[in-house]
Amino acid sequence: MEKREIQAIILAAGKSSRFNTGSTKLSFTLCGQEMIAYPAKMLAQMNIPMTFVVGFQKQAIKQIIHHHAIANASFIEQEKQLGTGHALLCSQSDWHAEHILVLNGDVPLITQDIIEELITTHREHDATISFVTTHSSDASAAGLGRVIKQNKHIEIIEARHCTDEQLLNHPLNAGIYLFKRAFLEATLHRIPANEKSGEIYITDLIKYASDNNLTVATINAPFDYVRGVNTLKELWAAEHIKRSELLTHWMSKGVRFAAALNVCLDLDVEIGAGTFIGTGAVITKGTRIGTNCIINAFSFISNTIIHDEVDIKPHSAICDSIIHKGSQVGPFAHLNNSIIQESVIIGNFVEVKRSTLGAHCKAKHLSYIGDACLGEKVNIGAGTITCNYNGVSKHETVVKDNAFIGGNCVLVAPVTIGTQAMTAAGSVITNDVPDNAVAFGRARQENKEGYAQELRERWTQQELQPSPIISTQKIKQIQDH
Ligand code: UD1
Ligand code: CA
Repeated sequence: MEKREIQAIILAAGKSSRFNTGSTKLSFTLCGQEMIAYPAKMLAQMNIPMTFVVGFQKQAIKQIIHHHAIANASFIEQEKQLGTGHALLCSQSDWHAEHILVLNGDVPLITQDIIEELITTHREHDATISFVTTHSSDASAAGLGRVIKQNKHIEIIEARHCTDEQLLNHPLNAGIYLFKRAFLEATLHRIPANEKSGEIYITDLIKYASDNNLTVATINAPFDYVRGVNTLKELWAAEHIKRSELLTHWMSKGVRFAAALNVCLDLDVEIGAGTFIGTGAVITKGTRIGTNCIINAFSFISNTIIHDEVDIKPHSAICDSIIHKGSQVGPFAHLNNSIIQESVIIGNFVEVKRSTLGAHCKAKHLSYIGDACLGEKVNIGAGTITCNYNGVSKHETVVKDNAFIGGNCVLVAPVTIGTQAMTAAGSVITNDVPDNAVAFGRARQENKEGYAQELRERWTQQELQPSPIISTQKIKQIQDH
């Protein structure tokens, strides 16, 4: 069977009522990627065109698919959620291939290998229906449909309609099916709603085919790859599996994790060999980390490129930035939208926003550098800040090569500090400073000889006066007021 003879229908209209969040579960992420994007990307990679049956929060689902630029995807609406069989029926106008692959939208860990095996089995048996079964004693599998095989007959009974005996010792339905389109066209509209729930079940097609001596084939897949996500707890379990896979992958590439279980790692992250990742680090999508870096404990790094040999000290938050080779950041630093050139030192409690720092710059303590462009080898003294916002608009600060900004300065933008220039500690710099100049922007210090002794005596006198006592009556008045 050629792939082009297959199209996929992804059931994605459900209300996610067991999620209890008010949002469709399919927009929740596992390792930074939305649940619905998993089967979508897999099918796109296999060149299988797909139709999403959408209903509840359909715009959210469409946006995700568009965001991931999934080719060959279309949407059909199921206005009322009347069950999985009804959802498939709604997509009928879109059927064109000879075989219809149906996937529940909430099975994010599904793999190409399983789909390939399903296709092979379907072809080898010339089956009317082929579907995936699984085994698990995990509590989260308790709600799955049971695949009941007796002699040559096969059917799926939903867990909530099973007898105690049926609940035990039977394989589980994974919710992944391959149908001959002709069979669906002839039968799906005839499947009645379930008497107990009023829903039309896709699973009733299996009994129908078997009753009519049509070939039903099954393959078995490990539960972890086909587990459905119906609750936040199951999302957590599925994400944990995905994350373990990612961690194992990066470990095999030479990345050392201090406490792998406590690291949050997204799908779209790359880490170079020899890099160390500390406890509690959160590294989210779009991040690329070079070789021999240290990402220390509890640092949060998002959408950032970190070149080789960079040292991120604990508790640093870094997003949308580029940090070049050999630089050092933190502890407790905050970088946002900034470019840090080579061998820069950004120390504790320093915030850098929308700024560029040239090679070998230092801002080691308690600074805010916003909307600034620093040349090479600029030194920013402790406590110095750029004053980039006047309440209406933002302005730029330029500090040229080798400038030395003293401690606790306020650089009021727009302002330019020239090459080799200096600013005296505690200055408020409101005018440009020429190259090589020293700017003083503070009150001149005055020393009064002997005045310390005089002051001390005066204060001692005041201390001898009895301090005024507030009367109980006065306290009562205050309380009553
Ligand atoms: C379904 C199967 C069950 C199987 C399990 C595997 C049925 C009746 N039961 O149960 O045998 O073990 O999957 O995970 O099919 N959906 C719609 N429209 C609807 C109802 C659901 O599009 O009217 C979509 C949901 O968004 C979801 C998928 O279909 O992506 C499955 O629905 P869900 O309610 O999760 O089915 P399960 O109870 O898990
Ligand atoms: Ca489900």
